[in-house]
Amino acid sequence: MAQNLLWVEKYRPKKIQDVVGNELAKTNFTNWLKDNRRRKKAVLLYGPAGVGKTALVNAASNEFNFTIIEMNASDTRTEKAINKVGKPATSFVALDRFSSESKGNILFLDEVDGVFGQQDRGGIKAIINIVKESLIPVVMAANDTDQKKLRPLKKVCKLIRFQQVRIPLIIHTLRKICAAEGIKPEFEALERIAQNSLGDMRSAINDLQSIAEGKQLLTLQDTIFLTTRNKDIGLYDTLKGMFSAESVPDAAIILNRSSVNFDDFLLSFSDNLPLRYPDKDDLATAYDFLSKADVFRGRVGTENWSLLRYFFHYLAEAATVSPKTFKPFDFIHPPMRIMKLFWTKGKRTKLENICAKIGTRCYVSRNTAKTDIVPFIQIMLKKQKSSPITSWLKLEPEDIDYLLTMNKL
Ligand SMILES: Nc1ncnc2c1ncn2[C@@H]1O[C@H](COP(=O)(O)OP(=O)(O)OP(=O)(O)O)[C@@H](O)[C@H]1O
Ligand SMILES: [Mg+2]
Repeated sequence: MAQNLLWVEKYRPKKIQDVVGNELAKTNFTNWLKDNRRRKKAVLLYGPAGVGKTALVNAASNEFNFTIIEMNASDTRTEKAINKVGKPATSFVALDRFSSESKGNILFLDEVDGVFGQQDRGGIKAIINIVKESLIPVVMAANDTDQKKLRPLKKVCKLIRFQQVRIPLIIHTLRKICAAEGIKPEFEALERIAQNSLGDMRSAINDLQSIAEGKQLLTLQDTIFLTTRNKDIGLYDTLKGMFSAESVPDAAIILNRSSVNFDDFLLSFSDNLPLRYPDKDDLATAYDFLSKADVFRGRVGTENWSLLRYFFHYLAEAATVSPKTFKPFDFIHPPMRIMKLFWTKGKRTKLENICAKIGTRCYVSRNTAKTDIVPFIQIMLKKQKSSPITSWLKLEPEDIDYLLTMNKL
């Protein structure tokens, strides 16, 4: 299997029927697409994350052979920017008639809730204008439509609601992926992943990949490293729980259930180690494990989630160097600020900037740039450090160096 390929991409629905669940929403959307005399020329697909809204639009475009003119609302925040991209798209209709391959064009504004920040008052108005002026059908997708600002938009759209994907359907999909990957899963393992996903198919598939990739057998035991989604253990309790754990698996389970941000947690953990281990040798061993955890945190980066279990493991090792010596102590909390600013913020901002650049050039959101484009650019860069694409994307030499080393440390 090609490295770096996310299963959510590899198993992305090709046809409408591959999008599981939400039958009513799918039928409504398909009927709207097929209807030449549709009453509303815009449709808003809305509902929770990771249930197949974007996937449905793409699958429908494959199946019905129409071309998607995509514009990502969240990265094109101002009225001016929206008009710049959206306006030309509204005049594409004339072109269809001459195209034998495409059955027509659709303007797709994904993640429209992204335009409702503080500064983008004009954004929603511009979108409504696009809907009004568009000569081609407009499809929009959003997570949350309760926001007040969306109301005017709702009036000009047909609304199609998506719900969480039901657990049995998620299990069924995970089972199919396992079969394709040559993995034999225990039913209970798939059930746990599905339940843990809370109906978010994207998370379920990502979780499956993180714990099952490359394995022949997937057991319930493997799922203990899953990050619980309805997380409720904070930083303090995670530290306390891990430091007082009696074994590596016990400590790993606590980390696993925790809601901590991993970068913050690493720093806090490090700050508190000297308090946990009065013995110098224990402390040295613990720091050694911690450094390994840190290496894996770096490698996990934003996509190699399959490595997360090593990160958990080494931290759990660091927490349980000498379980019997645990005595309650006062934690240093929160992590030392200067280190934090120095370390994590810089790293994240850099990647965010690169993804924003790519997003602007490719008309996709930063998130999409991160998940769909960056991995491929990294593969290309490994072969050749500069290419017409890197200059077209306006990547600076330092961006390129960053992308090349991003997952290493
Ligand atoms: N109902 C589904 N059936 C099959 N695969 C799914 C389904 N929902 C999500 N997926 C998988 O998860 C990936 C991401 O889903 P998608 O981007 O469609 O979610 P979304 O509803 O648009 O989420 P968001 O609100 O975050 O944009 C898809 O590429 C696909 O692999
Ligand atoms: Mg989406």
